Amino acid sequence: MEELFSALQSPPLAKRPWVTLSYAQSLDGCIAPLSRQPLMISGKESLVLTHRLRAAHQAILVGIGTVLSDDPRLTVRLAPGTHPQPVILDSFLRVPLNCKLLTQSRPWLITTEQADIIRREQLRDMGAQVIVANRNGHGQVDLADALQQMARRGVRSVMVEGGSTVLTSFLQSGLIDHLVVTVAPLVLGGLRAVNALSTPLPLQSPHWERFGNDWVFWGRV
Ligand SMILES: NC(=O)c1ccc[n+]([C@@H]2O[C@H](COP(=O)([O-])OP(=O)(O)OC[C@H]3O[C@@H](n4cnc5c(N)ncnc54)[C@H](OP(=O)(O)O)[C@@H]3O)[C@@H](O)[C@H]2O)c1
Repeated sequence: MEELFSALQSPPLAKRPWVTLSYAQSLDGCIAPLSRQPLMISGKESLVLTHRLRAAHQAILVGIGTVLSDDPRLTVRLAPGTHPQPVILDSFLRVPLNCKLLTQSRPWLITTEQADIIRREQLRDMGAQVIVANRNGHGQVDLADALQQMARRGVRSVMVEGGSTVLTSFLQSGLIDHLVVTVAPLVLGGLRAVNALSTPLPLQSPHWERFGNDWVFWGRV
């Protein structure tokens, strides 16, 4: 893992940021209960690692589904370091005005031209940066363009934390450098971390290590 942390200290200058996908799953590959009730899947030790990873990236990205379910802060609290820039993929600007990311920080909202103009202004007035990206074939934010827009604003590394739809999109897109998956000893029967990939994605030189009761797997994709 230290190898990954040192690589993150000087990510290569490129057209898109270095992308790390990181999430916590159950033994049966789920990241949340079906009810979508917020649930802490990983134990304290691997959570500390997640916060170290957050601090090692310049930005942290989630989908609007995670904001609506969990109302996360995406800050660094369990490790030393600074908070990464929060980024939300939100094609129609459904983000609630009272969510923690809007009231406690200044997130970047990556949206599409379909988003209401008045809503864009309202969110800008609250301190958010509204970034209009291209649409993909499903009318959602085009990931390649979103990453390029982030790179243009100086972001060289981004940690993608979820949820399921966003993880799947990134894995399908091939726009990933590293995968870090925490596996916790519970069976959830819930929302699957990843759905419907057309090709398997093996990790190159995979590593794994125990953190408390969890196992963390990581490697280059
Ligand atoms: N265990 C973990 O590590 C972990 C981490 C994070 C989240 N979660 C869980 O994941 C669940 C949420 O997952 P989710 O699948 O419902 O939501 P999500 O992946 O957080 O967000 C999905 C939404 O993002 C928007 N989006 C915009 N562009 C996209 C693109 N190119 N590809 C994919 N999505 C795009 C879409 O909404 P629009 O069309 O409106 O833009 C889409 O519906 C929650 O229950 C949360 O607790 C678990």
